[in-house]
Amino acid sequence: MRHSTLRQLELFEAIARLGSFTRAAEELFLTQPTVSMQIKKLSDTVGMPLFEQVGKKIYLTDIGHELHRTCLGISEHLSNFEMIAADMKGLKKGKLRLAVVTTAKYFAPRLLGTFCQQYPGVDVSLKVSNRERVLERLASNLDDLYILGLPPVDVDVVAEAFLENNLVVIAPANHPLAKKKRIPLERLVKEPFLLREPGSGTRMATERKFDESGLKLKMRMELGSNEAIKQAVIGGLGVSVLSRHTLELDTPSKQFVVLDVKGFPIKRHWYFVYPSGKKLSIIARTFVDHLRQASQV
Ligand code: PGA
Repeated sequence: MRHSTLRQLELFEAIARLGSFTRAAEELFLTQPTVSMQIKKLSDTVGMPLFEQVGKKIYLTDIGHELHRTCLGISEHLSNFEMIAADMKGLKKGKLRLAVVTTAKYFAPRLLGTFCQQYPGVDVSLKVSNRERVLERLASNLDDLYILGLPPVDVDVVAEAFLENNLVVIAPANHPLAKKKRIPLERLVKEPFLLREPGSGTRMATERKFDESGLKLKMRMELGSNEAIKQAVIGGLGVSVLSRHTLELDTPSKQFVVLDVKGFPIKRHWYFVYPSGKKLSIIARTFVDHLRQASQV
């Protein structure tokens, strides 16, 4: 069988499907003698006849049926392979434009790193801004994908959650509440609070939490980044709510604590989002798969 050619198998498949040597010859732009000769060679290779003729009609023999099934399997494998090859050509070169909220910068570059190792020809750009800015970029369709802590409600988007994002309360290590258990929210609001700038998703989720309980925060200071907040907490300026992701890297962790507050952590997720009508490039789709896989680890 190794010596039969793909062309012979293609011919054989056409005859089996069309029930006629003549029609198969027409379909493949060959002369009938060529078809007959090639099928004879194929039968010789197999060592048994593949067709039998009854009157004017031809039928597959038992071994012919087997070979037909094999041909269908081969052609399915080949068309899968063609699809993969086309996708890989598309993935060799191209751009991925990503916009993420500030808090996602603690994990998004790492995910991009592993993606770029796999697809070194892909040129990546990463914009990091707060939630409001990222939503402005989405409205102007500037990027392929957006990573947010909460999908927008007033824009028609496709959104899928892929990683957990828990918001916790942090305080300086020597804070009087540091060792307390199940601190009520009513007690927490007595503390001076450090909040991110307006437009921040972290700030929005924090304010919503207290609003839902009918409580009002005492804002001591507004700071434009998670790092500035951590430093201000360590400096004893107040307590704050931050994503646990922000505590992982480069953080002098012994200098502050996560407080055990009732109703915390605020359990959220990271979402990748894109406008509903947008057709994602093969690169963006592959990156989406990469995000899904990463979140299963
Ligand atoms: P932020 O967003 O970095 O703008 O606070 C985080 C979020 O949306 O959860």
